[in-house]
Amino acid sequence: MCGIVGYVGHRDAYPIIIKGLQRLEYRGYDSAGVALYDGTDINLSKTKGKVQELKDKAESEISTAGSVGLGHTRWATHGVPNDVNSHPHYSNSGNLVIIHNGIIENYEPLKKELTKRGYTFQSDTDTEVLVNLIEDVKKNEGVKLGKAVQIALNQVIGAYAIAVFDKTKPDEIVVARLGSPLAIGVGEDEFFIASDASPFIEYTNNAIYLEDEEMAVVRRGKKVKVRKIKDDSLVDLYVQELQLNLEQIEKGGYDHFMLKEIFEQPNAIRDTYRGRLLVNEAIVKMAGVEDNMKKFLNAERIIVVACGTSWHAGLVSEYIFEEFARIPVEVEYASEFRYRNPIITEKDVVIAISQSGETADTMAAIKLAKSKGAFVFGVCNVVGSSISRETDAGAYTHAGPEIGVASTKAFTTQITVLTLIALRLARAKGTMSSSDYRLHLQELELIPEKVEKTLLSDDHVKEISAIYKDATNFLYLGRGFNFPVALEGALKLKEISYIHAEGYPAAEMKHGPIALIDEQMPVVVIATRKGHYEKVVSNIQEIKSRKGKIIAIVTEGDVSVKELADHVIEIPASEEALSPLLTTIPLQLLSYYIAVMRECNVDQPRNLAKSVTVE
Ligand code: F6R
Repeated sequence: MCGIVGYVGHRDAYPIIIKGLQRLEYRGYDSAGVALYDGTDINLSKTKGKVQELKDKAESEISTAGSVGLGHTRWATHGVPNDVNSHPHYSNSGNLVIIHNGIIENYEPLKKELTKRGYTFQSDTDTEVLVNLIEDVKKNEGVKLGKAVQIALNQVIGAYAIAVFDKTKPDEIVVARLGSPLAIGVGEDEFFIASDASPFIEYTNNAIYLEDEEMAVVRRGKKVKVRKIKDDSLVDLYVQELQLNLEQIEKGGYDHFMLKEIFEQPNAIRDTYRGRLLVNEAIVKMAGVEDNMKKFLNAERIIVVACGTSWHAGLVSEYIFEEFARIPVEVEYASEFRYRNPIITEKDVVIAISQSGETADTMAAIKLAKSKGAFVFGVCNVVGSSISRETDAGAYTHAGPEIGVASTKAFTTQITVLTLIALRLARAKGTMSSSDYRLHLQELELIPEKVEKTLLSDDHVKEISAIYKDATNFLYLGRGFNFPVALEGALKLKEISYIHAEGYPAAEMKHGPIALIDEQMPVVVIATRKGHYEKVVSNIQEIKSRKGKIIAIVTEGDVSVKELADHVIEIPASEEALSPLLTTIPLQLLSYYIAVMRECNVDQPRNLAKSVTVE
């Protein structure tokens, strides 16, 4: 939700900021802006639209000189996406300029108060209120910018990652965070500010991640000091060495990040289980689980909290945990869980799943669960993310950066981590026979190869996509372990191609959705051999007799479904519990190709953002 970039140092700030914004565009892309200080004045340019449009506009309307500046790419919350509501925002005097990711919830009373004092506002944004509040404090209290930001933030309710620049103090930028991520890249006499480390990875490997309620003044040529916003106390500085490299965040010859990330899945899954899955020794080893084994073994239930695709991975894990480890599992939308006074006890283990590790609803659910005494375990992809720090323990998915807004490799690697945990617990609890346990370890190790094989269906899926690209509705059906995959397939299609799609447990079809089926309705059915096969075949017959178009995902060598379906996509045979790691692949490809053929923006679908840091 919005990307922010800033630079103060000895280089030209503009190219660093523009490139940084392009890398952060996955976070929001309805408008963008840049403010640069040329030694005398602030030059500001902003526009509705993408960073490329900003670049074209800025280069024609302002001087892009200067070695200090701020940039922003927006996902609108308050105020429609237009030039005026885009960031950065000036204060009334024109001395201060701000970029903000988050929401100031009490902006209306603050705005009223400031209006009474003579402030005027150009935009509908909460952010413009904040910058004027800072200016007001600065003026009235006669304090420096850092102090003014601190006093102002203590009056604010909401979430923010902000960077503020004052042209009367042009060697510094003040940054602060609560609820939205903010990283400071530390170079030689220079600092980079960004929502994640990708904008500065080619300049420095050293980063400071601000925690909630922390702020810092970054000053050219000076050491950073981080303070608590509440009481001004100094925080011990932790400079993290980053593992990220440039190649990981570029497209590597693929047309889109999404396609690259789909094809990265064999390696991503290998990276997920590397060092954790020791087949020869028949061991699953995960530090976060080993260190907290008692908590897991005493758990009366597991509650999974997550949103979107991560929630679907949670649903898959419900089947896996219950089957392997015989622990009851409840899977909750984090956004519902946090507001419904859920019954949580110290005997609950809460697993929070999040690719970005920044999702606001998931974060709030974690805090709630912790406050009720539950042990909270995180499954995150982004190392050092807010959720990974907030949880009591956790396991990273190690999928590498996921840039395409539609989640692909995050989903399969989340399932891999959750499967590893379930297997480890099954072993410890004795709920799985040792032969079954070993079989699943071996099968899991083979999954990357099978994903590679499944990816060979690429051209075939493309042909099917061409036939159905103009459909207006799709139905996705699956049973058991593959019911959540049906939900995920439908979500992928709607988010990137804007075709309405619904996922259902196959047997539920006759309780309503069957009324939708006619010759215009493509129905994607997951019909793998071990997954209630005969029952799914009956469901396919029901669709066929109503003239629905059937696209079936089947196990290689299948005969019965082939006779009924209009199209079949084969996947290699596997244990049923692991089959979601394979069945999901053709569904990702189908949504990808349909979206490309409909000329949709696959990596940055409309209205979406990669990291949803507002509720
Ligand atoms: C769908 C998608 C979203 C995210 C959801 C949660 O493709 O990407 O539904 O899964 O916003 O995000 P994380 O996993 O970052 O918490």
